[in-house]
Amino acid sequence: MITEITVQQLHPEPFIHDKIREIKDAVGEGTAINALSGGVDSSAVTLLGHRALGRQLKTIFVDNGLMREGEPERVAALFGTLGVPVEIVDAREEFFTALKGITEPEAKREAITQTFYRDVFGRIVRTSKARCLLQGTILTDVDETVAGIKRQHNVFEQLGIDPQKAFGYRILEPLIQLRKDGVRRVGEALGLPAELFERIPFPGPALSARVIGEVTPERIETVRKATVVVERILRSTKAFQYMAILHEDRVTGMRDGRRDFGQQIEVRCWDSVDARTASPTRLPFDTLEELAAGIIREVPGVVSVTYNIASKPPSTIEAI
Ligand code: XMP
Repeated sequence: MITEITVQQLHPEPFIHDKIREIKDAVGEGTAINALSGGVDSSAVTLLGHRALGRQLKTIFVDNGLMREGEPERVAALFGTLGVPVEIVDAREEFFTALKGITEPEAKREAITQTFYRDVFGRIVRTSKARCLLQGTILTDVDETVAGIKRQHNVFEQLGIDPQKAFGYRILEPLIQLRKDGVRRVGEALGLPAELFERIPFPGPALSARVIGEVTPERIETVRKATVVVERILRSTKAFQYMAILHEDRVTGMRDGRRDFGQQIEVRCWDSVDARTASPTRLPFDTLEELAAGIIREVPGVVSVTYNIASKPPSTIEAI
């Protein structure tokens, strides 16, 4: 049973102090690996781990081929300026091979989990002789997994899976009592730049959570290009989260006076406090038109753009 610490109950400084002690005690004289994805949670854990372990911590950014444009390099450079060296591991081919032919959402999540934890991190931990992996699981990830809504890629213990037995290493999750709003407070107190702790949430399975149907390099490229447009146009809204989703169905469109059986992008933009419930942001119609024009102009093959108007629940924030 995990005891929640709400943002009202949270005192960032003593929390950080306690977690540093716990990480130090768990790792001892050994070394630990830390999985950085550039999201708010993993960025906060990286700084926390770095404070606790210094050079005993090796920070890895796994380039799974599913990240946003320029993300691996941007995140590594940013942490470099904070004094945290980041090693980028190129696992793009491994992930695309694992995802080939899979269309069912939970099967996709499982393929990502196994590739990430068993294959890629299993190998890194074995060769580095690290004892544990530090990662930024938060309470919302656990809740939804246990409730059977979505198997979040980073939840094990609560499903009765022992990472030590399954993958050969321990997993430390110092943020597991918090939700996103609490993590932001901790990130800020740790000296994370606002650019990182104010970032919109981004899921572990990355852009594959936004591709309905098979995840291929080409389809990821389509949703990646649409994401650039959506993030650029919606950044100033201060919404909780916004995203582009690539649909599987094609629709008839026209381009240059000819029939074009093209692709569809769905835009979602959410108002939420902690991701447990969410409602669509009431975007001005001018903004919606700007989104449609930008996506159709910049994303080859797209002939239809829609805006989601359903709330969570019953919708969920990501499409997969
Ligand atoms: P959903 O889609 O379940 O998302 O309403 C709730 C929040 O969690 C993020 N999310 C994930 N984060 N691993 C993560 O680390 C995952 O597998 C995952 N799936 C969703 C999502 O972006 C939203 O902020």
